[in-house]
Amino acid sequence: MALPAIHSFFKLSVLTFFILAPAARASEWIEYSSNGFATLTHYSLPLNYIASCGCTAESTHYPTAALSQMAFGSSTAYGPACGRCFNLTLLNTFLSVPPFYPSEQKSIVVKVTDLCPLSTTGWCNATTNGPNAAGNYLNFDLAYPSTSIPSNFFPSNASYYGYTDFGVWNISYESVSCNGWEGWNDAAALGSVTGQGPESVCCAADPTNSSNTCTSYSDHNGIA
Ligand SMILES: *[C@@H]1O[C@H](CO)[C@@H](O)[C@H](O)[C@H]1NC(C)=O
Ligand SMILES: *[C@@H]1O[C@H](CO)[C@@H](O)[C@H](O)[C@H]1NC(C)=O
Ligand SMILES: *[C@@H]1O[C@H](CO)[C@@H](O)[C@H](O)[C@H]1NC(C)=O
Ligand SMILES: *[C@@H]1O[C@H](CO)[C@@H](O)[C@H](O)[C@H]1NC(C)=O
Ligand SMILES: *[C@@H]1O[C@H](CO)[C@@H](O)[C@H](O)[C@H]1NC(C)=O
Repeated sequence: MALPAIHSFFKLSVLTFFILAPAARASEWIEYSSNGFATLTHYSLPLNYIASCGCTAESTHYPTAALSQMAFGSSTAYGPACGRCFNLTLLNTFLSVPPFYPSEQKSIVVKVTDLCPLSTTGWCNATTNGPNAAGNYLNFDLAYPSTSIPSNFFPSNASYYGYTDFGVWNISYESVSCNGWEGWNDAAALGSVTGQGPESVCCAADPTNSSNTCTSYSDHNGIA
């Protein structure tokens, strides 16, 4: 019984290495402007979960997001995007037929606390060689549902489309100071967890307005 298991594990790691190794090199991180267009998806992040950056558990009580790997700037643990805050504005859906343009444009300020892993397809697949399927180089993966985000945050028209969750949105983003983030006045929601060793975590309280920025864990450690 043990032999086939070992064999398939081995095959899997070779395959993973083959896919990831050529793409994730330091010179190939995506440099992005302080504002522009992006895609927005959402994913489940349990309350109090410590995500890739190692931001405090309390950060999950406020709006947070994962950023696509090549813009995040590390293939594991923390990267330069950790702790950065962005104002995200929902513009339209584009997978629905027809595209949906909500009558009211909703915005939310998120703090980046997590990494959305590079894949060959999917919304976090942009590299310096090309954008994702929507033509964007950045994808924000919003932690949602969240205790801090109203359950009607994503506008919809169920009677017309037959569903409420459009899944993927075209958004505009703007890099903003974290003093506009909902968790800013909660000291426990800022910074990194302690007791993990400073080498493995980095969550800047407000990297747009200080020299307190995070470097790339994978560059530091020679990880592809
Ligand atoms: C990302 O995936 C989409 C859809 O599968 C594809 O069209 C696009 O070329 C991919 N982009 C990159 C950079 O691999
Ligand atoms: C996103 O919105 C911008 C501005 O309206 C538009 O130029 C772009 O084509 C849209 N992208 C998609 C995928 O809908
Ligand atoms: C839903 O879409 C239909 C068809 O476009 C439109 O007539 C209706 O006003 C929309 N309802 C809402 C709540 O946006
Ligand atoms: C976020 O963007 C929206 C739309 O541009 C704007 O109305 C709002 O004031 C912005 N919020 C912050 C905190 O920058
Ligand atoms: C930057 O930080 C300082 C000191 O905390 C604060 O007074 C200032 O308003 C911040 N600047 C911005 C653009 O948020």
